[in-house]
Amino acid sequence: MKFQDLDINSNIKRALDDMGIDTPTKIQSSAIPKLLDGGRTHVLAQAKTGTGKTLAFAIPITNQISPKERSVQAVVLVPTRELCKQVYSVVTKLNKYRKLKAVEVYGGVSIDRQRKEIKAGAQIVIATPGRFMDLYRRRAISLNKVRFVVLDEADRMLDMGFLPDIQYILFDAMKGVSPRLLLFSATMLKQITKIARQFSNGEKLVELNVSKDDITVASCKQYYYKIQDASQKYASFVTLLKMEQPKSSIIFVNTRRWADKLRKRLIKEKGLNMVFSTLHGDKTQNQRERVLADFRNEKIDCLIATNVAARGLDIVHVTHIFNFDLPREGPEIYVHRIGRTSRMENDGKAISLAVHDQMKLLRAIENFMDKPIERLYFSDNQQITIKAKSKKSTYTDGSKKKSSNYGGSKRKSSNYSDSKKRSSNYSGTKKKSPIAVPASD
Ligand SMILES: Nc1ncnc2c1ncn2[C@@H]1O[C@H](COP(=O)(O)OP(=O)(O)OP(=O)(O)O)[C@@H](O)[C@H]1O
Ligand SMILES: [Mg+2]
Repeated sequence: MKFQDLDINSNIKRALDDMGIDTPTKIQSSAIPKLLDGGRTHVLAQAKTGTGKTLAFAIPITNQISPKERSVQAVVLVPTRELCKQVYSVVTKLNKYRKLKAVEVYGGVSIDRQRKEIKAGAQIVIATPGRFMDLYRRRAISLNKVRFVVLDEADRMLDMGFLPDIQYILFDAMKGVSPRLLLFSATMLKQITKIARQFSNGEKLVELNVSKDDITVASCKQYYYKIQDASQKYASFVTLLKMEQPKSSIIFVNTRRWADKLRKRLIKEKGLNMVFSTLHGDKTQNQRERVLADFRNEKIDCLIATNVAARGLDIVHVTHIFNFDLPREGPEIYVHRIGRTSRMENDGKAISLAVHDQMKLLRAIENFMDKPIERLYFSDNQQITIKAKSKKSTYTDGSKKKSSNYGGSKRKSSNYSDSKKRSSNYSGTKKKSPIAVPASD
């Protein structure tokens, strides 16, 4: 099937043609036809990272929106500012000939400008929940005519941090024309299905599970190095970078402070001919935008980031993901982090450092994916010398032990979704108020 064969507006087909997109991906061919009927079906869709979920919801909503009706007809909620801008850019390209009015709404910039843009007849609002709520409370957005509410990164959006805002928005929207609910993510935890059922209000909820049991892309090769002691982590990482010479990479760390520190240390290293920069919530909106633009344009080779970059970002040239720190909040974050490479079947590598006492965390990630991560070893001539004050200690993990205890057999899934380890907020702070602004906003 080609997009040309689908019953969608010819202006959308023209725009897709301009984007060089002619054949739907799996998630697109399963989700789009279900959303073109104007009916009451809600969709909960899970498909691997980098497989075109954005167009899977953007095409049907763009198609169904009435150009003559100058009110908000679709709300797309996303967890971060960066993702907001990206989804807006996709919707704008898709709208090249159809010319619906889309507005991007996120924190860190003037709210007045956004309010004016919405007032000027916005039909699609793409927003982070905090700023959306801010505008909604100021009555700058009406939900009366909203026919679609999309939660991109649905599991993140419905987790404890965002749920109260989402509930507030959905319950109010239901008082209007009662929107269809579209939930998309590469990972769906069991609670999400429960919540989705609750919101779909007894109406038909189609669950699309395009990746079935395998939730990560095969073109991404996953490895880890076991580090005996946390004090050896930095030197090991420098060795790793020298070995890999990544063309374009993201290094994930768990704190904003460490992101800055790591950059300061790495730029002083000899033999790493890379341009480093950082992306995290302590940067101004201007800085965040500039850094991401420079990374997209390949002026920056290596982005050191917190989880603010873990979800949804589509930067096709990324060859390597490094987990300098394993994610603490839950194994699903790992899946999203590594999904920043190997998009649309491109090759990529994801390499993690696991300190001795983090092996449990690593196993939880493997269990969640139902897939082993291959262990790698530094060879003898890559022994890492660590300067500890005046003394020198040497790290090597050159043992010839077998990499993991999988022995090639698949592990049983750990039912991780039932456990209490879910992420509550990227910043680690719990939100109390239903209208509090999330850290990533
Ligand atoms: N049908 C298609 N043919 C070719 N390329 C496509 C098609 N659909 C989407 N793409 C491209 O695939 C890339 C990934 O798409 P997208 O960002 O929507 O993935 P995703 O499934 O949302 O990933 P994530 O889970 O990381 O958010 C984009 O660069 C997009 O332009
Ligand atoms: Mg996406």
